[in-house]
Amino acid sequence: MKTDLIYIDYLQYPHGVTCASQFGFVVENENYDCIQKGYRFQIASDLEFECILYDSGVVPSVKRTGVSLSEVPLRELKKYYIRVGIKTEPGGFSGFGKPMGFITAKEKWMAPFLTPDTKKEDEKSAAKLMRMEFDIEKDIESAILCSTALGIYHTWVNGTRTHDYELAPGFTSYHKHLLYQTSDVTNMVQKGRNCIGVMVGAGWYKGEFGFLGLRNNFGCKTAFSCEMEVCYADGTSEIIGTNKEFQCCDAPVVFSEIYDGEIYDARLEQPGWNKVGFVERNWYAAQTLEASGDVVLAQKGSYMKVMERLSVKEILRAPNGDIILDFGQNLTGFVEFRVKGKQNAKVELRCFEVLDQKQNAYFDNLRKAKQKVVYYCKGDGEAVYAPYFTFQGFRYVLVSDWPGELDAESFVACVVYSQMEHTGYFECSNNDINQLVKNTLWSMKGNFLDVPTDCPQRNERVGWTGDAQIFCATACYLMNCHEFFRKWLVDLALDQEQDGGVPHIVPDIISDKVRLVEDWLVSRGTHSAAAWADAAVIIPWTLYCFYGDKSILEAQYESMKAWVSFMETHREGHTWCYRLQFGDWVALDAEQGSYFGATPEELVSSAYFAYSSRLMAKAAQVLGRKEAQKYTDLNEELAKGFRNKYINGDGSMNVKTQTAHILALHFGLVEDREKVADGLIELLEKENGHLVTGFVGTPYFCHALSGSGHMDAAYELLLKEGYPSWLYQVQSGATTIWEHWDGVRPDGSMWSPEMNSFNHYAYGAVTEWIFKQIGGIGQSEDSVGFENILIEAELGGGLSYSHASYASIYGEIAVHKKRIGNAIGLEVRIPYGTTAEVVYKGKMIVQLLPGKHQLEVAT
Ligand code: BGC
Repeated sequence: MKTDLIYIDYLQYPHGVTCASQFGFVVENENYDCIQKGYRFQIASDLEFECILYDSGVVPSVKRTGVSLSEVPLRELKKYYIRVGIKTEPGGFSGFGKPMGFITAKEKWMAPFLTPDTKKEDEKSAAKLMRMEFDIEKDIESAILCSTALGIYHTWVNGTRTHDYELAPGFTSYHKHLLYQTSDVTNMVQKGRNCIGVMVGAGWYKGEFGFLGLRNNFGCKTAFSCEMEVCYADGTSEIIGTNKEFQCCDAPVVFSEIYDGEIYDARLEQPGWNKVGFVERNWYAAQTLEASGDVVLAQKGSYMKVMERLSVKEILRAPNGDIILDFGQNLTGFVEFRVKGKQNAKVELRCFEVLDQKQNAYFDNLRKAKQKVVYYCKGDGEAVYAPYFTFQGFRYVLVSDWPGELDAESFVACVVYSQMEHTGYFECSNNDINQLVKNTLWSMKGNFLDVPTDCPQRNERVGWTGDAQIFCATACYLMNCHEFFRKWLVDLALDQEQDGGVPHIVPDIISDKVRLVEDWLVSRGTHSAAAWADAAVIIPWTLYCFYGDKSILEAQYESMKAWVSFMETHREGHTWCYRLQFGDWVALDAEQGSYFGATPEELVSSAYFAYSSRLMAKAAQVLGRKEAQKYTDLNEELAKGFRNKYINGDGSMNVKTQTAHILALHFGLVEDREKVADGLIELLEKENGHLVTGFVGTPYFCHALSGSGHMDAAYELLLKEGYPSWLYQVQSGATTIWEHWDGVRPDGSMWSPEMNSFNHYAYGAVTEWIFKQIGGIGQSEDSVGFENILIEAELGGGLSYSHASYASIYGEIAVHKKRIGNAIGLEVRIPYGTTAEVVYKGKMIVQLLPGKHQLEVAT
């Protein structure tokens, strides 16, 4: 028995830890009869635990999550190690498990922001170099660099990259919330003279960004700020940070923006610029830029990085003669290449997602985003280059200029996403379903770049709240995204309107543009659409359910409450109305050419209003708030209003759309579930078994069916082939989830290029159902953190087996199902500290305690 894994604030090796942080640990236990009687943890300043700063002693408690660090005298900006052991009966103290390192937060950001940009740079997106040399006179014990920028930046100490973070400091509502990144640079600084080098680019902050086509969304000038704390062997310490000695110069990155790509001119490189002894010619002093240090907080983790590297699968010669690299996978990131060209030789790459009907490169769906990378060689041998300040959404790359012979080995696709542990695995006997889950995971990777984006390729790539809300539970199954969403919810709350309205996109770069642009969306309303704005309530609640973290509810409570109060303010009976609503976005029952599905907007608002108030009541209850009853009453009243309006005397629904029925069933708004479920089945039959739902109905379709006694129909729907269906895109060769059911039509033609992303995770939200119902890994209604696991034993759709696992906060849950004649054979792993119930056709079959079990369920 040992503690196997520790996480602080749900992260491994976190930064920015404070005494408000909490930790948890997973117990690896082969002897399930031992009962935990207590835990003990130690904090040390060294990995060997020779210098122990804190020892909790055995704390009599069964807790394994949410353990507070408030007693520990943590100093700011220090690297520490934590280890944990448990006391059991029988057994005694287990001994300590594997330690984990972490770095504490800086308390207050003091360093100035320096801009390398001069007046004439306001309209440009060229990067700048900044450098400063400094002396260290004593022996160094440790050095930790905290850095951030308005823009995107990279840093070097004595010529070495200080970290492997990409696109830092990420995308936040910069003037309200800016994150600094932490790097341990102990091995890079030296006694004597040192140099810090920085390259800053435009990024989300200053480059053209957002579908309104505006630049300078947050400011006209990029800036950089850093503080490096150097601790000396003699016990003293010193802070070295941005100061007036920083000198600036143009960088070889002559252009770089999120949508359009990057132009790198290697002829402008200045060898040695980020090392000691470089002679600055035509460099100039950086200027101070007014920016508040109060909004600067530590990035705790979930750093964007190159998480995977893919090789070229095939070099294609298109019918029109173009040379195209095919990486075999739609992805987000950039291409790194190795090139040997004469001076002035040019490389030009254009990234795109799909081939057109004739098998040529298709750029139209990128809209205005160029996704182009240009590199000019300086001609002194081989160079390796990857873009610094941009990313592309692509599977294919058109190479229009390449010096010399082109070979596949010269290129690598660097897949960039926020670092999150992979927690959910699924496999079954149907390869198309496996591919669908794989595509969902790839769309998550492609759109979890610091904020949950709608898509990574066209001139959009923004944090649409609705998409994130729909996908959140699926995301939580697939990867540990607690920190990813926690950080984004901070921006959601900060960008919320005074009256509680929730922006359509977070960070909100459109709301204050109403007077500047003529855009239908902006003029019709930039916030508060049903199902989109409900992200404010649904996402914190979902995180609480998956991670059992009350603090996320605590942190978001006012924001959640404000959203419900917004709906109350705009209430008209059981529903509410406010400017632009998206309804059941892109549903196929829409009128020809329209994006708005046939389900009435008021029905969607009404259903979500009731649902959010129900979750609000639960959240208030968890936190012991007095409003709990008020929200329960509100929910009941709204559900009643919903029934009065939409339910006929015989219990059927009077709105005949699939989505109307799905919402009514899934949000528990109807009394005669059977009747409504029959109505849904009828509507499905009318479509020959195909779904015609959009963003609102699709995620819950299978849930609504299986939750109302129609498990077979749910399997049938999932396994449906042909257009429109989940498997239609899989069988059409998709490697990610498409935005439209008919992204590519059966005849090879495409949906309008105006809105046709091939990497849009929303419809992948069915993966939550796949994990719960096919995989068999769910949890009971009142369970959080999977402490009471619900194992669904049914294996429908003619599947012969399924394997699923999920790394919960208590450890790994695994369920293998196998059809054995008329029975389902189950092999199950229940982690220490949890219990499980096996259910079949809605009935509890057996309760299981932690451990490994094998059983058969008769069908
Ligand atoms: C986005 C969607 C988003 C929608 C809102 C689109 O442009 O790509 O995913 O939710 O607008 O209507």
